[in-house]
Amino acid sequence: MHDLPRDIASMKLYFQVGRIFNELRARGIAENAPLQCGDLTAFDQYHYLGTDTVDEAARRLGVSASSHVLDVGAGIGGPARHLAATTGCQVTAVELQPELNATAASLTARCGLGGQVRHLEGDFLAHDVASWHCGGMVSWLVFLHIADRAALLRQIRRALKPGSKVFIEDFFKRGELTPAEWRDIRQQVYCQALPSLGEWRAQFRDAGFAEIEITDMTETWKPFVAGRMNSFRAEEARNVAVHGRLVFDALDEFYTTMDRLFGGGNLGGIRVIATSP
Ligand SMILES: C[S@@+](CC[C@H](N)C(=O)[O-])C[C@H]1O[C@@H](n2cnc3c(N)ncnc32)[C@H](O)[C@@H]1O
Repeated sequence: MHDLPRDIASMKLYFQVGRIFNELRARGIAENAPLQCGDLTAFDQYHYLGTDTVDEAARRLGVSASSHVLDVGAGIGGPARHLAATTGCQVTAVELQPELNATAASLTARCGLGGQVRHLEGDFLAHDVASWHCGGMVSWLVFLHIADRAALLRQIRRALKPGSKVFIEDFFKRGELTPAEWRDIRQQVYCQALPSLGEWRAQFRDAGFAEIEITDMTETWKPFVAGRMNSFRAEEARNVAVHGRLVFDALDEFYTTMDRLFGGGNLGGIRVIATSP
C-alpha cells in the first residue's frame, strides 16, 4: 500500500460504514429490497455539497451514456451510482477499503446499476490500468490520503485516453496550520499530503496535464460543513436511536473536527479540472 497509514479504517468517517443500512431500516426498507439511487444520496456521498458537485463534474466532463468514467476512491459508491443513474454512463469505481467496496457493490446491485458500475477493490496505485481506456476521471477527497502525487497522476494518465478531463475535489494548505490543526489533519483525517494551491497546480503541470483550472472552494464548503455538524447534532436523539451511541459520537467528533479546521481558515477546499496529455 502506498504511503497510507495502517489505520485509515479507524478514521471516524469510515466507522461502521454499514450504518447506511440502519438508515434504510429506519425508513422501513426491507433488507435486500430493490432500491432507487435517490433513496441513498443523503447518506452515500462522503464529500461536500452532495450530488450537486457530482452533477457539476458530469457537466464539466461532458459525461453522457457513451462515456466510461473512472472514480478513484469511490467510498460506498454514491458518486459512481449517481453518475451512472443520471447520465447512463459506465463507471469503473476503485476503493481501497474492502468493507467500503463490498458495501458499495451491494448497494449498486440493489439499485439495478450492476451493469453500469464496476466496483474494484484495492489501492488504485496497484491496479493494472493500462487496458481501462477511461474517457474521464472524478475523485472526491481521496488525493489527501495519498502522499505520492507524482505516482498517482502517472497512474491516472495511464488509465485515461489522451485528452480526457479530470475533476478532483480535495484539500489544500490555505494558511500556516497550528500544531493542533496538524494533529487533527493527520490523526482525524489521515491526511498524507497538504499542498498549497500553487503546489497543486505545479503537480498537474509537471505530470503533463493542460488547461488546469483551480478553484478555491473553501467559502462554499464552510456553510455545508457547519450545517452538517449542526443538523446531525440537532437530531441527536433520533441519530442515537438509529445508529447507537458509538456511531453518533464518532461522526459527531469527525464533523466537529472538520468544522473547526475549515473555521480556522488554514485548511482549504480545492477543485481541480484539467485535461490529460
Ligand atoms: C473521503 S472518502 C470519499 C469517498 C467518495 N469519493 C465519496 O465522495 O463519497 C475517500 C475514500 O478514498 C479511499 N482511498 C484512499 N486511498 C485510496 C487508494 N490508494 N486507492 C483507492 N481508494 C483510496 C478511502 O478508502 C475512502 O473510501
